[in-house]
Amino acid sequence: LSLFLAGGCDWHVRQEPREKPVPANQVVDFGELYDTHCSGCHGKDGQSGPAPPLNDPIFLAIVPDPELHRVIAEGRPGTLMPAWAESKGGALTDPQVDVLAKGIKERWQAAAAPAADIPPYAAPAGQAGGNRDAGARVFAMACAGCHGDDGRGGKVGAVNDRAFLELLSDQALRRFVITGRPDLDMPAFNKATPGRDEGFKPLTSAEVGDLVALLASWRGGGSPGEK
Ligand code: HEC
Ligand code: HEC
Repeated sequence: LSLFLAGGCDWHVRQEPREKPVPANQVVDFGELYDTHCSGCHGKDGQSGPAPPLNDPIFLAIVPDPELHRVIAEGRPGTLMPAWAESKGGALTDPQVDVLAKGIKERWQAAAAPAADIPPYAAPAGQAGGNRDAGARVFAMACAGCHGDDGRGGKVGAVNDRAFLELLSDQALRRFVITGRPDLDMPAFNKATPGRDEGFKPLTSAEVGDLVALLASWRGGGSPGEK
């Protein structure tokens, strides 16, 4: 069909522009691209889907633009996030990937400045790795009240679940610890709530890295796609 349209049939040209179906590779409307290709996993309006919410003020405050673009173009190997750029075997042209990467921030970034001292999106070079024993101590203080002592489920579901962790990259785990999942009532890095120790202090970047090391050890090691 796209060859047929690209071939330019002149009966087609004579119709009103509105009646022309827009070939899939010419669609550059953010809402249409998002609804067609992304909302099934990331949720209608960027929340409450199975995949990490994209409409999240903390996520949008910390994700670097080039990384947002790269993950859409190249996907996250070993996870359910596919590569979208044609050059990577995906369904979207480079301009369409650009529209999505820009549109996510334009549409959803909150006008208000988010909380200060948010740990960076990616673990800083000096903190790559993290320490799982330190992570276990942070987990007891900041997570176990809801997810259970060993993460196998308590007031809320288990996170110490290999099948679940095998589908998520370390980057996604880091991001969940930082942003929480406000759409599911999972608190962000800085929220003192029931389920966290009294005197809870916002998690530091290093503590987030230690938690990721702990969760990765429950998965059985390396991030999907890096193994
Ligand atoms: C106040 C309770 C609470 C605390 C404290 C809490 N969580 Fe959660 N968490 C939730 C809820 C609710 C969900 C939604 C899914 C469910 O019910 O298991 C969730 C989901 C998750 C998920 C899965 C996200 C997804 O999209 O499937 C991860 C990973 C997670 N939590 C890790 C942690 C870690 C690590 C900590 C400690 C830093 C923590 N949680 C602290 C309530 C909590
Ligand atoms: C089949 C499900 C699926 C579809 C469809 C999908 N994604 Fe994803 N996406 C995921 C999952 C799962 C992750 C988390 C992967 C990981 O790192 O573990 C993710 C991660 C991302 C991230 C990084 C989020 C973060 O926290 O760093 C971005 C940005 C993203 N997707 C954008 C998109 C866009 C834009 C589309 C549509 C063109 C799309 N995704 C379609 C499943 C999907």
